[in-house]
Amino acid sequence: MLTIALSKGRILDQTLPLLEKAGISIPKSELESRKLILDTNIADIKVIVLRASDVPVFVQHGAADFGVAGKDVLMEHGADGVFELLDLEISKCKLMVAAEKNKNLNKSTLKVATKYVKSAKEYFYQQGKQIEVIKLYGAMELAPIVGLSDCIVDLVDTGNTLKANNLVPLELIHEISSRLIVNSAAFNTKHAEISDWIQKIEQSI
Ligand code: ATP
Ligand code: PRP
Repeated sequence: MLTIALSKGRILDQTLPLLEKAGISIPKSELESRKLILDTNIADIKVIVLRASDVPVFVQHGAADFGVAGKDVLMEHGADGVFELLDLEISKCKLMVAAEKNKNLNKSTLKVATKYVKSAKEYFYQQGKQIEVIKLYGAMELAPIVGLSDCIVDLVDTGNTLKANNLVPLELIHEISSRLIVNSAAFNTKHAEISDWIQKIEQSI
């Protein structure tokens, strides 16, 4: 039996066609149900659909053998217990620093609003800048406008959300896309089975 953990939302929409091409499909009735463990067309493959940030947790602890999560989420989680095997090249965007145009960011301590606390700390530390992190769970773009922070660290794709809130992208922290991750122990114990599916998924990218 193999369990695959998928991130719900926009990543799921782009992962399902990839899996289907690789030969794993989830019936519509399963996807539309309230079930948390979904059957697939392959009897010994089950799928669980989780909040994006929970995917590496399930994979790390072996509750799922492999999973799909954004690089943003993986950088926050760290590499403990998981191997990142494939760049699926879906849900592409950029992790960036953004602020109001002409905002003075040369302060001794910058206030940074973000849900990406680890990535923000690492990035500004490398720049030799001291920061105070304000942890948010969404609507980061609001923070500089209402004076909660000097800047934000958030995902940018089209740039429309920044523009709509009078913010400008300033610095690129990391290119983001979704990755296939595998539980490091399962990668050894179920190697043949897992590599077979990974190969099929790789060919579907
Ligand atoms: P949660 O529900 O856990 O708070 P979320 O609301 O951020 O997560 P989504 O917006 O579906 O969930 O984003 C999930 C993943 O999709 C992110 O981790 C990132 O890898 C990717 N992503 C987020 N925003 C974009 C975007 N604008 N363009 C492309 N990919 C994105
Ligand atoms: C993400 C991200 C930005 C937006 C960027 O938010 O947090 O707000 O997308 O995309 P853009 O550059 O194309 O405008 P999302 O739509 O996932 O909303 P959420 O963070 O509230 O879940």
